[in-house]
Amino acid sequence: MRSNFQGALALVIISLLLVASSCGEPGQSASGDAIDSRVDSVLQLMNVEEKVGQLTLYTSDMSVTGPTIRPEYKEDITKGRVGALFNAFGAAYTRQLQEMAVNQTRLGIPLLFGYDVIHGHKTIFPVPLGEAASWDMEAIETSARVAAEEASAEGLHWTYAPMCDIARDPRWGRVMEGAGEDPYLGSLIAAARVRGFQGDGIGSLNSVLACVKHFAAYGAAQAGRDYHMVDMSDRMLREIYLPPYKAAIDAGAATVMTSFNELDGVPASGSKYLMNDILRKEWNFDGFVVSDYTSIQEMIPHGIVADAAEASVLSLKAGVDMDMQAGFYNATLPQAVKGGLVSEEELDAAVRRILRIKFRLGLFDDPYRYCDEQREKETVMKPEFLEASRDVARKSIVLLKNAGSLLPLNKSVRRLGVIGPIGQSRQDMIGAWSAAGDGNKAVSLLEGIKAKVSKDTKVSYAKGCNVMDDSTKYFNEAIALARQSDVIIMTVGEGWWMSGEAASRGTLGLPGVQQQLVEEISKTGKPIVVVLSNGRPLSIPWIDAHIPAVVETWYLGTQAGNAVADVVFGDYNPSGKLPMTFPYSEGQVPISYSMKNTGRPMNPSNKYTSKYLDIPNEPLYPFGFGLSYATFEYGDIALSSSGNQGMKVTCTIRNTGKVTGNEIAQLYVRDLVGSVTRPVKELKGFQSVVLEPGASKEVVFELTSEDLSFFRRDMSFGPEAGEFKVFIGGNSRDVKEASFRLEESSPGGLEFRYGDSPPKDL
Ligand code: NOJ
Repeated sequence: MRSNFQGALALVIISLLLVASSCGEPGQSASGDAIDSRVDSVLQLMNVEEKVGQLTLYTSDMSVTGPTIRPEYKEDITKGRVGALFNAFGAAYTRQLQEMAVNQTRLGIPLLFGYDVIHGHKTIFPVPLGEAASWDMEAIETSARVAAEEASAEGLHWTYAPMCDIARDPRWGRVMEGAGEDPYLGSLIAAARVRGFQGDGIGSLNSVLACVKHFAAYGAAQAGRDYHMVDMSDRMLREIYLPPYKAAIDAGAATVMTSFNELDGVPASGSKYLMNDILRKEWNFDGFVVSDYTSIQEMIPHGIVADAAEASVLSLKAGVDMDMQAGFYNATLPQAVKGGLVSEEELDAAVRRILRIKFRLGLFDDPYRYCDEQREKETVMKPEFLEASRDVARKSIVLLKNAGSLLPLNKSVRRLGVIGPIGQSRQDMIGAWSAAGDGNKAVSLLEGIKAKVSKDTKVSYAKGCNVMDDSTKYFNEAIALARQSDVIIMTVGEGWWMSGEAASRGTLGLPGVQQQLVEEISKTGKPIVVVLSNGRPLSIPWIDAHIPAVVETWYLGTQAGNAVADVVFGDYNPSGKLPMTFPYSEGQVPISYSMKNTGRPMNPSNKYTSKYLDIPNEPLYPFGFGLSYATFEYGDIALSSSGNQGMKVTCTIRNTGKVTGNEIAQLYVRDLVGSVTRPVKELKGFQSVVLEPGASKEVVFELTSEDLSFFRRDMSFGPEAGEFKVFIGGNSRDVKEASFRLEESSPGGLEFRYGDSPPKDL
């Protein structure tokens, strides 16, 4: 066994060796060359086992049992068999682990600490799907920034976010972790999250490395069942699923995680096409790739390899640098190198990519730079972070229905009944994947409501039923409360554990007997506001048809109750818009506003057209939908030259309501005839406009031929001449439209033409 002194000495030697080519202060951006020569000087000292150790990521058992180090971790770390750990955080704990790596291994190479900081670390923000409903890139970036500040102050270097998986099937529980169904919106959000996490850059003390996941197309799991197979055309992959990952890479994301699914018959963790051809060659990604949890091992049941040795060789050669949790690289790669199945150059390439990041983080200069207990104390859950969380939470709320302007409620209402199983729950406010977040520190809906109403308002609560079971034994108490109330807020939805990983559902209604409860309460004839907490689009046609006010609140984080009360009682006018279609029923899924037209578009009077016998084609709430306490009127679209080989699309929006409101105006296009069929609508832009009552404002979008580009018949990317429609509206359904053409001008050049082409009705 090596002594602490030897390990410490090793680090000192490495540091001295490197000082000649040093890149300045820890964390300061260094030239790639300087880092590369430092990396090489470390590589020269390493044996094959130590190299493979750097490619190995294990979980700590912290989340399970608190900050203890199991003997096997200790042994793995001190033997140099681990390059990175996850599920270990806290300045003191990470220091303790880091000391083991630095002082007790032969070379003293520091560990990298990762964790799933998905929507906040300790101050929890809305779940990502909720944040996506804000359509507010600044807010989303702020959320990731706060998460990075807290996580890095707790010794973490690396978050497993953003999840960039496009998802069009709400049965899949992980829709909650992403930005919804649309590649354009998803790409902007992916980039905003990377900017937020990585802040001033890799190595700046209050930043964490982003990890783009799950590469690729995990969101297209068949039948919405988690981990299930994915199969799609390359065209669909590139057009719909890849853009958000690419946007995150372009924003500088340092790392990428593979996905659990297979794609075209090859599990992602063994896919050279994904890691090597697309990610590295086409996109020039120069960070490292980590497998998802045991996904290298899972290639055996997938049926693509026979054993651990084959799995490791396939993954490494595919370009997967780090093995999360399977331990397959550790167990088999040294032998594979000896046997010539993997060359030492291939091994070195993976090690280099990981060491480079460790250098960029400044860990070789100071392995403990993120382990500052004082900073941790001063940073975690600062009042301004809580305020930011409340602000993003309010922006994420979507008003789905408000018949008769029931909302906002009067704060002085005399008797307010809060009914439903989510009302008192704090844990449900922070949702799944809430990292180190503490449910006990969250503000429940009931607490938020009580804090908001007048002191003379009597707020009473009855849970009515549980989230999931079929017992109606609490119904009577709830009905009695409803009878004694002037207004009722029903707090219903999914339990926090019903979305996220391994949380697929076969049905999309309210679980258990909750809808029955709403029906019973509505028989009292009292005005009801349904406040939904959920991590996926729900199918709630009965509620939509019978309840006057419906508010989608997702899981809004630590400040959820306050944020909901801000909206329900009118201190904040909601402006969120759905980032994912809410289907009428699960029979419609997968569903998106951006489907193709078919050769037999729906015609209600013709049986042999594309439709169902028993449900409508139309969703319950379309993509982009969301109301405000104000109302907005859209004028006709005007088209004009942008003078820049593009076209201006203009529309005047007027606030016809009585209060100031914020409208998110959306721009869509349709290419009517292409060398391949095109979606009926594609989002190409949006703008947020704040309007006082009676005020109007012109929104101006600029369309370029780049916006009209797609993967053509021959898979080249670009626009085609022809006729188009352009739409502007407050959601993807209710829009104004105009027509234009792209015409060939000079050879190879395309020009916008408008004004003289009659709209075509397809
Ligand atoms: C499995 C999940 O798929 C992934 O998103 C997560 O980052 C890892 N586990 C680590 O917790």
